[in-house]
Amino acid sequence: MKYSVLTAVLAVLLGASLSAHAEHKEAVSVKPWGVAALKQTLEEMPKGDIARGEKLQGDALCITCHGDKGIAESRNAPTLAGNNLHYLYKTLLDYQSGLRNEGNGKADAMWAITQPMTKQDMADLAAYYATQSAPARSATPPLTTASIERLVRHGDPSRLITPCASCHGAKGEGGVNETPSLAGQEAYYFERTMKAYKQGTRQADTNGAMQFFAHKLTDEEIKGLADYYAAIPNNKKAK
Ligand code: HEC
Ligand code: HEC
Repeated sequence: MKYSVLTAVLAVLLGASLSAHAEHKEAVSVKPWGVAALKQTLEEMPKGDIARGEKLQGDALCITCHGDKGIAESRNAPTLAGNNLHYLYKTLLDYQSGLRNEGNGKADAMWAITQPMTKQDMADLAAYYATQSAPARSATPPLTTASIERLVRHGDPSRLITPCASCHGAKGEGGVNETPSLAGQEAYYFERTMKAYKQGTRQADTNGAMQFFAHKLTDEEIKGLADYYAAIPNNKKAK
């Protein structure tokens, strides 16, 4: 990564100062992923260097929003610790290209932060976070209703919702390819991003699968699922 702490701070400050100006908003014209293109990108991913990733996340101030070792301290920023290696890498590419964005163009923090990154930087950062563990975010299990548990384990065939666990793992630990972990994720972020899929503002999912599922869920179910996964620790060992 070519930038110093100072440039990262500037990127964030600049982003904040630009957010007042609507003319800086940019329409995104990046094509969503097809299965073959994503497969090839993941196959060509450089091998990540965990130690370098650890240094980068300190130097680039990821820590200020995503917390020590990727365990978010603010409800707005996702926890990165223990997420899927390929998902983290793909997601950094998506922010850089603008495919994934928060709708504020250059004022989006993750857009600014990823601009100077090389693929090697992204692979190193992904390797570091993927090997960290995240604790459960709520000390006591939430009041999980039978209907939430059913969505996780059995989905809802009447609405064509595939069980979350069939892709995201029995304990929300993440799945094959780019399927992220959900365990230990900040509930507020989880809800927000599910609503972004539901509204179609998050479009980085291959073949729109998550948009399809989110669209079928009620806001109450989304909240229940967010609380459910936030209460599960994500104990990742090096992979
Ligand atoms: C100014 C705060 C801020 C900084 C600094 C920051 N991030 Fe983020 N990051 C966010 C927010 C907010 C989101 C959620 C955005 C969204 O909803 O798409 C996010 C999302 C992400 C995601 C997606 C996580 C997921 O579960 O989908 C990754 C990966 C990520 N950031 C990595 C990094 C890395 C690596 C750095 C340092 C190089 C960094 N971030 C610096 C605020 C920040
Ligand atoms: C067919 C497989 C599949 C099923 C079933 C599935 N997901 Fe996903 N999910 C994915 C993939 C792949 C992604 C990453 C998409 C992307 O890159 O945006 C994802 C992303 C997510 C994210 C965003 C994670 C983050 O860190 O930003 C959430 C939250 C989520 N899924 C929740 C759910 C819930 C809740 C269910 C059950 C109702 C579910 N998913 C069912 C494959 C699946």
